Amino acid sequence: MTARFLSYPLRLSTRFETFASTPVHMEMLRDATRSLTFQRAISALVKPGMRVVDIGAGSGILGLWALTAGAAHVDAIDATDVGATLTQTFAANGFSGRATAHIGHSGSVTLSEPADIVIAEVLGHFGIDEGVLATCADAKQRLAKPNALFIPGRVDVVAWPVWVPDFENDLVGFWQQKPYTYDLAAMVELTRRMTYACNEHDGQRLARSAVLASYVVGAPPPPRFLARATFTTDFKSECNGFFLSFVADLGAGITLEGWRAHSWKTVFLPAPRVTSVAKGATLTLEISEESDGAVRYSSTC
Ligand SMILES: C[S@@+](CC[C@H](N)C(=O)[O-])C[C@H]1O[C@@H](n2cnc3c(N)ncnc32)[C@H](O)[C@@H]1O
Repeated sequence: MTARFLSYPLRLSTRFETFASTPVHMEMLRDATRSLTFQRAISALVKPGMRVVDIGAGSGILGLWALTAGAAHVDAIDATDVGATLTQTFAANGFSGRATAHIGHSGSVTLSEPADIVIAEVLGHFGIDEGVLATCADAKQRLAKPNALFIPGRVDVVAWPVWVPDFENDLVGFWQQKPYTYDLAAMVELTRRMTYACNEHDGQRLARSAVLASYVVGAPPPPRFLARATFTTDFKSECNGFFLSFVADLGAGITLEGWRAHSWKTVFLPAPRVTSVAKGATLTLEISEESDGAVRYSSTC
């Protein structure tokens, strides 16, 4: 059976190794909610003659849409070997004179001219976990004109309390049922302390989502990620944790909700135990980045 809850440690930097893979880029392109929302924003914001930098270009799709919208030039940057396909892709689509591929981390790339628009689809499962804030703060200083637009321009980290029965049945339950007749229940507590990528429909939402932290993309990131939110439950239920996701403001009134796009997962933060909550109960979630770089959370659920 395929695990529905994949281990996803909380951290705030890119796992480049996961992107050096064409199936991963295929999944992103097949996610029409994600891809076409970016296309709408690019079509609305890129004007003929603009210079664009596409950070984390991958297959090159967002740069191609910027060129189709009339960009004079696209600098497409990707840190993985996937970036080595970009020169051929731009040529194959008739844009070779208007696009330059750069293979490497954006922090080590220099451009011949700064950009009017920075496209940075470097959004992780909860928005900021692929390094979008540090990457775009550096781009604003070195790769973009002072008044450049960023797509996305703002990222909100959001969360909501959930009841995820499958976590109890499939994961916790597995360790409680004496595999091969041995008592392996010592694994239960560890299972509850880990964090997971899963699907939004794996959990029942107990309250409206709340914004934990809101960031202007391109602004200097805070030294540490610190976030807190309070929720009021809509009905009486069991509660065993929180889902974490994001809302990205792409500009021109276009927003993208991470949990509606299937190439992003929601991040499940299990509570230490299952709790019964009444309708109208107040729950809190606090997340903090520690000095060792680990991201930890605590909650009243
Ligand atoms: C989520 S994918 C998006 C790919 C493509 N833009 C798309 O929309 O289909 C992010 C890509 O950005 C790359 N990446 C992330 N941060 C980067 C950085 N700071 N510099 C260069 N590449 C980066 C990763 O290697 C990955 O290929």
